[in-house]
Amino acid sequence: MTAAVILAAGQGTRMRSHRVKVLHELGGRPLLEHVLTTVQALDLASVVVVVGAQHQAVEALVNHRALTVRQPDILGTGDAVRRAVDVLPNTVERVLVLYGDGPLVPLALLRTVVERGQQSPNPVIVTARMPDPTGYGRIVRNDNGQLVQIVEEKDATADQAAITEINTGIGIWPLGMLEQVLPRLIPHGQEVYLTDAVGAWVMAGGTVGTLVAPDPERVMGINTREELARAEAILRRDTVWRLMNEGVTIIDPQTTYVESSVRVGMDTVIYPMTTLRGRTVIGDYGRIGPGTTIVDGQIGDHAVIEHSVVELSHVGPKCHVGPFSHLRAGTYLERDVHIGNFVEVKNSRIGLGSKAGHHCYLGDATIGSHVNIGAGTVIVNYDGVQKHPTFIGDDAFIGCNANLVAPVEIGSGAYVAAGSTVTHNVPADALGIARARQENKVDWVTVRRASKERS
Ligand code: UD1
Ligand code: MG
Repeated sequence: MTAAVILAAGQGTRMRSHRVKVLHELGGRPLLEHVLTTVQALDLASVVVVVGAQHQAVEALVNHRALTVRQPDILGTGDAVRRAVDVLPNTVERVLVLYGDGPLVPLALLRTVVERGQQSPNPVIVTARMPDPTGYGRIVRNDNGQLVQIVEEKDATADQAAITEINTGIGIWPLGMLEQVLPRLIPHGQEVYLTDAVGAWVMAGGTVGTLVAPDPERVMGINTREELARAEAILRRDTVWRLMNEGVTIIDPQTTYVESSVRVGMDTVIYPMTTLRGRTVIGDYGRIGPGTTIVDGQIGDHAVIEHSVVELSHVGPKCHVGPFSHLRAGTYLERDVHIGNFVEVKNSRIGLGSKAGHHCYLGDATIGSHVNIGAGTVIVNYDGVQKHPTFIGDDAFIGCNANLVAPVEIGSGAYVAAGSTVTHNVPADALGIARARQENKVDWVTVRRASKERS
């Protein structure tokens, strides 16, 4: 039986962060989340995450999807693996070890490693040829090409440092071998290196197999913010390519930021400077962007959203949003809704074919179908203490610059006169006027002008 161990106890000093490294986000998800999700897809009998620095936050992320074991002091990768080995059930024969800071590792590679491990009584280590090996442990082979030792960069001679084949940190190890070798490793200062287990095993007459990762980019470890940004670019490029392969037109992949969780339908066009995040799902034939951010949005077919921000909202088919509008959490636009310029909508439902074209605030409202909301309409949903609901019936017409003071109901077919501050319900098919009546002072200017000329 094979178990997996993910090392995630280190602080990540080189990130220079208050936050532990494995909780830093890549493509909107913590590094460890990426590794854990990939490992879970292997369906192994047991997965252990070694936690230490900020263990409560890391344990909360793991959230019982794997066993966690605490490494009380951060004494190196060798010590961390030892902690995990101690809690593994005794049916486990070998252990797949990965580092929590290697988020891009492909599932297919892990499958191959596990298969290789099952066929071999020896450890198998995944290596990669990195054009720039800086920071990684170097793979030292003998004249027969066999792995004899992994040397960490700071212990490497100049010749060893020049080696471009590196240790990815991914490997499969027979449990018995780890139990035998790990306790005997000599610490470097305070730290015990897992990588030293290779040299120790070879010295004792064992052999260690290697598997060269076909795509070195995908096995990179993240120790610094610069590496995090590089990984982000790789992930983004992969996601954008995936979308294009699925039939989405992306005008400018360089300025299109899409998290891997996002789904986009065929023949949708994404314009530059657009960010799509979280559980966003976009239908077919859409036009999204330029300059649009959608977080957790559900967007129907043929929708157009330009220069706008959409969060936790549903945009029905054929809706048009923007430019420069903001749909906040809880917005639900039915089909064919038009939200134009500078409109903010929050926690509101807007029915079929309704329109709010210009400069509005619509909050906590339920608006029927074919309603016209005039320019400058404000739904006054907050009295300083509580939020109140507003209901607007089908075919209602709200004149420009109206304040609808909630709680209030505008009946279907009703009109609200422009400039009204509505504090009472307007019945269906009525006209509500709530403003001072206009008075014209005839000749007022003439009289004033004449009096000025006299003085
Ligand atoms: C490690 C390897 C190096 C390899 C590189 C691949 C060692 C000694 N070195 O170096 O050969 O090329 O990864 O990216 O293994 N961790 C713990 N407990 C500890 C120390 C670390 O859980 O006591 C965890 C960290 O949280 C991290 C992972 O182990 O997720 C790797 O540690 P890191 O400090 O990043 O090792 P590298 O210097 O990158
Ligand atoms: Mg690392």
